[in-house]
Amino acid sequence: METTHRLIFEDARKVRALDDQSIDLVVTSPPYPMIEMWDQSFAEMDSRVNGFLDNGEYARAFEAMHQVLDQVWQELYRVMKDGAFACINIGDATRTNNGRFQLFANHSRIQSKFFELGFDVLPLVLWRKQTNAPNKFMGSGMLPAGAYVTLEHEYILIFRKGSKRKFTTAENKLKRMRSSYFWEERNVWFSDLWDFKGARQDMDSQTLRERSGAFPFILPFRLINMYSLMEDTVLDPFLGTGTTMMAAMAAGRNSAGCEIDRGFLEPVIQRIYEQWPLLNRYNLDRIKNHLDFVDKQRDKGNQLKYMNSYFGFPVMTRQEKELKLPFVMSFSERDANCFKAVYFNDQYIQSIKPGELDIKHLTYDHGVQARLF
Ligand SMILES: C[S@@+](CC[C@H](N)C(=O)[O-])C[C@H]1O[C@@H](n2cnc3c(N)ncnc32)[C@H](O)[C@@H]1O
Repeated sequence: METTHRLIFEDARKVRALDDQSIDLVVTSPPYPMIEMWDQSFAEMDSRVNGFLDNGEYARAFEAMHQVLDQVWQELYRVMKDGAFACINIGDATRTNNGRFQLFANHSRIQSKFFELGFDVLPLVLWRKQTNAPNKFMGSGMLPAGAYVTLEHEYILIFRKGSKRKFTTAENKLKRMRSSYFWEERNVWFSDLWDFKGARQDMDSQTLRERSGAFPFILPFRLINMYSLMEDTVLDPFLGTGTTMMAAMAAGRNSAGCEIDRGFLEPVIQRIYEQWPLLNRYNLDRIKNHLDFVDKQRDKGNQLKYMNSYFGFPVMTRQEKELKLPFVMSFSERDANCFKAVYFNDQYIQSIKPGELDIKHLTYDHGVQARLF
């Protein structure tokens, strides 16, 4: 299997490089309206923004910033296939204007726009980002009637374009089953409250995240596994440091990412070249966690009823019988700003016991190459 990953340096409000109805899933996080670090970015896309902010007309600034994003949401409607999902990570903003402290509810403004554009609004996820920062409590401290509750969560808004996706051909049905996730993952992933405590963080740099508003790798990785099939195409219209692209590669999906700031070109390419060999750790973790789950069930006296035909380990439900996880073998530039990932073949993966599969087996070297071709 091979996947391609395309960097598009265009304004996401109008992406000439993308055809109508060509995208199976959108995972993204836009610049956040009314969060100061993005004021300038919005001002560059709408000349009214600075004037509104300078005059203290915050409601108008908020609306102007959202009107910039609205154009991107409309463009998503054009490029998404019928039945495709869009997952938008967004946080609300707080700001004080003339001594009046106020919340700017970005999530509800975006939800209303998607609804107006004709998307179906689906139940959302609250992403809990607990902080121990000393300034997390805002307002008048221990004195009543002047303090505000902490803002320690963001949202993952979920939408669908059109009617449910259909899987009619035998090939599509098999691909869907191959792309299934574990029962115990379903129980966590499809809960409406997420925190990522304990999640692997080797793809995430704290400083990069603060400087660019990057989300943790696990966020797009989970959403991609939940809402798309292997070899689908995932779009991030606000690519930033390329987290969604890396997650798509790890999950065996194609991807495209738009970014308006060409200054991201070098850092994104450098990041991908440095980090792609780490990508397999996420699917290895999934296997390890599943084997731990199987052991725990056995200790409790629960024998799992079904066998996974690819890895040969027990699984909870019939739907997981064909589950397969992709492992990246090599990564290279295909054309300008377009990259190719090649995956280890089934024969090779199946020649190793799942419990013994580790990063050493999944590191591309000439010895492995000889065994593959
Ligand atoms: C919140 S950051 C995305 C971070 C990304 N999720 C990551 O993990 O690195 C938003 C990005 O959108 C880009 N951007 C803002 N407006 C844009 C537009 N109209 N078209 C394309 N990219 C845009 C910004 O330059 C910034 O890199």
